[in-house]
Amino acid sequence: MNYMDDFPMLNKDIVYFDNGATTLKPKSVIKAMDDYYLNYSSNAHRGDYKISLKVNDAYEGVREKVKKLINAKSSNEIVFTSGSTDSLNMIVYGYFKNKLNKDDEVLVTKSEHASNILPWYELSNEMGININYIPLTENHTVTLDNVIKSITPKTKVISIAHVTNVIGDVRPIKEIIEYAHKNNILVVIDGAQSVGHIKVDVQDMDIDFLAFSAHKMLGPTGVGVLYGKYDLLNELIPTRYGGGMNISFTSKDEIEYKELPYKLEAGTQNIAGVIGLGAAIDYINNVGINNIEETCDSLKEYIISGLKSIPHIKVYNENVEGSIVTFNVKDVFAQDTAIYLDKYNICVRSGSHCAKKLEDELGIKNTCRISIYFYNTKEDADKLINALKNENILEESLGV
Ligand code: ALA
Repeated sequence: MNYMDDFPMLNKDIVYFDNGATTLKPKSVIKAMDDYYLNYSSNAHRGDYKISLKVNDAYEGVREKVKKLINAKSSNEIVFTSGSTDSLNMIVYGYFKNKLNKDDEVLVTKSEHASNILPWYELSNEMGININYIPLTENHTVTLDNVIKSITPKTKVISIAHVTNVIGDVRPIKEIIEYAHKNNILVVIDGAQSVGHIKVDVQDMDIDFLAFSAHKMLGPTGVGVLYGKYDLLNELIPTRYGGGMNISFTSKDEIEYKELPYKLEAGTQNIAGVIGLGAAIDYINNVGINNIEETCDSLKEYIISGLKSIPHIKVYNENVEGSIVTFNVKDVFAQDTAIYLDKYNICVRSGSHCAKKLEDELGIKNTCRISIYFYNTKEDADKLINALKNENILEESLGV
């Protein structure tokens, strides 16, 4: 299928392979946000006039769409946030800070994104919980066996990405969660790289908390979702207080807060962003999540086989299921490779990709990352592979 009519960025002679950082946005997302700003711009849940009521319907309609997308039991389990980072910080500081005790253990992996490690580090500094790492396999993936081996009687929470942003491995989260729950361990899932890319069903997977961002699934930046099972979310203490989340307050001892989800949405929300997220979900549903997964998968296989035929390229993650290819060119610093590719208008990310502990596993700090989405084509892949066949990448990057 040709998506050029829907995505203006695809008509700009650019090969965009940095979808793990943020995806492109279709016109329908931009139009939905424009429509709000141009035709019914007003606040939500605060006005008794027609256009404000229309905003309420649009905003709450998106909550319903998110609920269906991830198959939550209730739309009250869906909280709008500013993104995955915000959602994860709320989970750590609003829920676990009040539930964990000194010496309790949190299991993460060394391939987590900063937003799923730093809040835990800070909580550890603050209250003396311990952070332990689930060992990764030689392919840098997580297995249930390794999770089981890492659990101790002190383990209270496992906090891991569904799909990691550098290795792109899809974790067996259903099996991990099933085992964790048998041992009274809660599981937090960072879904930033999975929701909108592969099927995520919070009921089937029995996920306790899930965080994801709109902008990594065709939506705008600055908006995301915190999902939690109702009873857990209901015990998450707001990390922000203000308008829209209270019913009344007469003194510091007499405050009444709203029910979920509103008590966790203090202040005027990113209404346009939420409306854009709704249009993004519609687009994803029209393309079909299975179709998205298959398209990305087959393009990834194509790219990997192309790169493997180039002797000076090392691929770090050829045996994973996600749509990410991480590589380096022999003797070339990752950023120089990215700068070289940019000369051909090919966008890839280079560096440590916010996953700075991964260096301990890969033995190397910086890599180049190709992250694929469904609108990428074989022509894009061919341009990338042909550019990387050049044996003088370093010289061309440096302009010598
Ligand atoms: N987390 C984003 C990435 O992986 C920014 O590139």
